[in-house]
Amino acid sequence: MNQNIIYGINGPVVTVKDTDSFEMMEMVHVGVQNLVGEVIGITDRLTTIQVYEETTGLKPGDPVTGTGAPMNVLLGPGIIDNIFDGIERPLKAIEEQAGAFINRGASVNSLDTERYWNVTMKIKAGDKLEGGQIYATLPETPIIEHRLMLHPDLSGVVTEVKPDGDYKLFDTVAVIEDDLGEKHELKLCQQWPIRTARPVKDRLTPSIPLITGQRIMDTLFPIAKGGTAAIPGGFGTGKTMNQHQLAKWCDADIIIYVGCGERGNEMSQVLEEFSELIDPKSKRPMTDRTVLIANTSNMPVAAREASIYTGITLAEYYRDMGYHVAMMADSTSRWAEALREISGRLEEMPAEEGFPAYLPSRLAEFYERGGRVNALCSDEGSVTLIGAVSPQGSDFSEPVTQNTKRFTRVFWALDKALAYARHYPAINWIDSYSEYFNDLDPWFREHLGDDFVDYRNRISALLQEESSLMEIVKLIGSDVLPDDQKLVIETARAIRVGFLQQNAFHAEDTYVPLEKQKLMMKVILHLHAKAKEVVAREIPLSKVLELGLFDKLTKMKYDIPNDRLEMFDQYIEEIDTKLGELLK
Ligand SMILES: Nc1ncnc2c1ncn2[C@@H]1O[C@H](COP(=O)(O)OP(=O)(O)OP(=O)(O)O)[C@@H](O)[C@H]1O
Ligand SMILES: [Mg+2]
Repeated sequence: MNQNIIYGINGPVVTVKDTDSFEMMEMVHVGVQNLVGEVIGITDRLTTIQVYEETTGLKPGDPVTGTGAPMNVLLGPGIIDNIFDGIERPLKAIEEQAGAFINRGASVNSLDTERYWNVTMKIKAGDKLEGGQIYATLPETPIIEHRLMLHPDLSGVVTEVKPDGDYKLFDTVAVIEDDLGEKHELKLCQQWPIRTARPVKDRLTPSIPLITGQRIMDTLFPIAKGGTAAIPGGFGTGKTMNQHQLAKWCDADIIIYVGCGERGNEMSQVLEEFSELIDPKSKRPMTDRTVLIANTSNMPVAAREASIYTGITLAEYYRDMGYHVAMMADSTSRWAEALREISGRLEEMPAEEGFPAYLPSRLAEFYERGGRVNALCSDEGSVTLIGAVSPQGSDFSEPVTQNTKRFTRVFWALDKALAYARHYPAINWIDSYSEYFNDLDPWFREHLGDDFVDYRNRISALLQEESSLMEIVKLIGSDVLPDDQKLVIETARAIRVGFLQQNAFHAEDTYVPLEKQKLMMKVILHLHAKAKEVVAREIPLSKVLELGLFDKLTKMKYDIPNDRLEMFDQYIEEIDTKLGELLK
């Protein structure tokens, strides 16, 4: 431990004259209040530290103490159903201690150290343990079993095991002896540096979809478990709504939701909504599987930079237990702005739009931590990463959007015009893409039949065709189009309004199972094919439209409940009867 004094202060950046006492990325305590900071630069003259808390009141001469370890988080039971700030300080516990304002340098432990957990031991004396192996389990919430894993850097032979029973976070439940004869006490927690990816046994192809219940995402632009996605969108286009929908409904076991530089009331809304929502699978409140990391716009900028790494480290920890974890970050632009602000204070050479030259590599490092893996404990787990991006004025050519695009494989592009027209989710079906079709199609074929893939391809082809027809319509109007092309436009409208638009506030429509998504596509395509036959017989399209079938399909999402899928047969029958009469 080294004691030094502050030389200069510039916003969240503090300098110290001593350059021998600290290591790069070391966690330090700054000032008499012990504010948390991290060493981000060492030159021949100065050591530079970024401080994760308000630096108001600090002055030159105040002490700076090294911790001898990199910035790390505490991993153990009590993470789930909790809400932390960007450096894993529990906001509820701090609030209880200090009132509504976060006390600086608050010496509250990240996790509850007094709470008892009911531990079941999974090892016996004499067992040989490798890093990542599970030595005990405990129920963390009614739906999540917490699995205590040997720290990845440790291995050895078990010399002592405590009986099953109730233990606190820092109680020793077993002892191992490593190859050098050194003893290590195993507790209910471990520490991990946030900027280092946790090791895995091997990486797997992302061949299982993350099912979201959101039609445009599941069918047209699917994401895999362990996949990466960007949701870019200008002001008010629905980034937060989409992230909330994903957090509520996607079929991950655990959700890590990072609110990064966004409005504070949105985070409290997440808390409220999630505690009221019941998970359809487990019949338990959504909070039983959710962790919130809140670094809202009024909190210090450097902690915002850390919040992304804290979030992904927690995600990797649960992945290593064999869970499918999904992490949402809203918004990564605010995170990039934090990088820019700190870089500016360090007087680094700015690159594009003032962002530091290392913006792309930081984004790459972050998204590379996603993936589907065999964890060290041999179970399969995944971390899916979904980052919102908020380009100013919906200009997707700006650096954060462009660089995010390079490192993510799904692009759900939010469109200002669609949002303005209240077409939600405002995901543009021409600009968006998914690169997971090759990986995921075998799964879709196996679980939903070849039809599913075929329908999706036809729906997407019709939308493409409509888009090019609309170019002509814009120039010379729709009257000149022959009936078969007008039919494409009608069908595409039914797809857009009936299928792509989805109402997050409607009880039935907010989450739609894949089977219903498939049948909705089937009915629309059936009507299209039948109407095409009619039009081919030179019967005017207007006769078909008079039957009101297209309008009926735009409302089927509300009219057919998610558990009455047999009703689709009646729809098909009605189409056959009514168009059959026209053909007679
Ligand atoms: N799927 C949806 N269903 C219904 N309404 C929606 C949907 N998506 C967005 N909206 C509407 O759009 C509004 C703005 O959405 P949201 O706050 O998610 O945008 P944002 O992109 O996060 O905005 P900001 O740039 O301010 O962060 C919502 O309050 C809601 O009324
Ligand atoms: Mg938002």
